[in-house]
Amino acid sequence: MPLLSCSEISLDLGGRRILEGVSLDVEQAEVVGLAGPNGAGKTSLFEVLSGRQLRHTGDVTFNGEVVTKLPMRLRAQRGLMRTYQRPIVPAGLTVAETLKAARKAYRPYPSRLRMEWAMDFVQMRAPLNTPTGSLETLERRKLMLACLLLRDPKILLLDEPASGLTGSEIDEIDLVVRRLAQEYGVAVLLIEHRLELLAMVASRVLVLDVGQVIAAGHPERVFLEPEVRAAYFDVPMTAGGAA
Ligand SMILES: Nc1ncnc2c1ncn2[C@@H]1O[C@H](COP(=O)(O)OP(=O)(O)OP(=O)(O)O)[C@@H](O)[C@H]1O
Ligand SMILES: [Mg+2]
Repeated sequence: MPLLSCSEISLDLGGRRILEGVSLDVEQAEVVGLAGPNGAGKTSLFEVLSGRQLRHTGDVTFNGEVVTKLPMRLRAQRGLMRTYQRPIVPAGLTVAETLKAARKAYRPYPSRLRMEWAMDFVQMRAPLNTPTGSLETLERRKLMLACLLLRDPKILLLDEPASGLTGSEIDEIDLVVRRLAQEYGVAVLLIEHRLELLAMVASRVLVLDVGQVIAAGHPERVFLEPEVRAAYFDVPMTAGGAA
């Protein structure tokens, strides 16, 4: 049984169809990529899977339980957690205060050891007394990830964790994602455009376009599909399928 699955998800917002019949499965400890051009509906799908958006049709199942009607907080309690495209950290707090607030929000209260493990796992370099507002993008992302790791996630939905990062910073995120899956058995659904990153971490990639899954498969192959190239680059397809 897959850890997370959704079937035939459709979502209308502002009188427009945003998602149309989207189905996917993620197995335990699997890293699955979610790609697709801007506005394809990737973040909207995360809203649905995480429980932030409940006004859709179709079902979401997590760890053997239908969670379609369950709000985000209760899904997170069960181990289904997400990050946001923009790494917004609480203003006016230091790194230590942010972690403390995150610890206090959870029951059972995560141990101090767990907090130190999470910080070490993401290789947070900024000192604990750094105001979160002055953190660079990578450190913000690491801090948000550390806050989630306190809660023992079974799956993380990561919304473009590598965007705005330099090459060596992307390598760090890549390593964190791989270690999550390989060493701790945490599944990851990863929104990402870069083939080279997806090829490093993901066993499969789904490509969305205009709210629908248009391709699925191995990262190296999926980006060669004419329909995917057409969606990304608006390249007209020939009758023979070559773009
Ligand atoms: N609350 C909303 N009301 C109306 N339309 C919305 C709403 N949220 C998203 N949309 C529209 O839904 C479509 C999909 O948006 P979404 O943010 O899911 O795309 P995305 O694939 O994550 O894009 P990007 O790569 O730019 O992050 C877009 O056309 C967007 O304008
Ligand atoms: Mg998005």
